[in-house]
Amino acid sequence: MALLEVHGLTKKFGGLTANEDISFKVNGGDLIGMLGPNGAGKSTLFNCLAGLYPATSGHVFFDGHEITDLKSYEVARRGMARTFQVYAASGDLSVVENVMVGCFMRTGSGFTAKDRAKDILKEFKLQHLSDYMLSEIPVAAKACYYGYCRRNRAEDAAFRRGSSRS
Ligand SMILES: Nc1ncnc2c1ncn2[C@@H]1O[C@H](COP(=O)(O)OP(=O)(O)OP(=O)(O)O)[C@@H](O)[C@H]1O
Ligand SMILES: [Mg+2]
Repeated sequence: MALLEVHGLTKKFGGLTANEDISFKVNGGDLIGMLGPNGAGKSTLFNCLAGLYPATSGHVFFDGHEITDLKSYEVARRGMARTFQVYAASGDLSVVENVMVGCFMRTGSGFTAKDRAKDILKEFKLQHLSDYMLSEIPVAAKACYYGYCRRNRAEDAAFRRGSSRS
């Protein structure tokens, strides 16, 4: 069985059929793209696979188990999650607290989540931003934080020069 298998998935919004009888397989290690014009149903399909929308009919299997009717957090705990075109994070939380939100998928312990979040920030060389409120840091640093760009050392240095918290 492939890592991800979709069998005859259909999603209707009332009288509008966004996805009709979609079937495909994705093997581990595959890198697959999905193309289609605006309104073709790409996001709807991803939302059904990730458990954000209930499918109208059809079946989804991930890693050998049926996940068709699971909630998004249950799908995520099994190892599949979707990202969004427009990122969403809380400006009311610090950088490390925002990372902790994701860590709570795997633990109920605040201490464990914080340790893991600190490790992740270190791995991405962002530990110096850890205690800043997200709303405090400039857009360039946020882009690095979200992983949308590689760290720009010039901007980073400028940010450090311009931010005095001592
Ligand atoms: N929550 C919803 N309720 C009702 N209709 C929806 C909903 N979400 C999407 N649709 C409709 O389903 C169809 C597919 O939309 P979808 O957003 O999946 O397309 P898309 O391929 O992701 O488009 P784009 O390229 O613009 O992102 C569209 O006609 C859209 O209006
Ligand atoms: Mg879309």
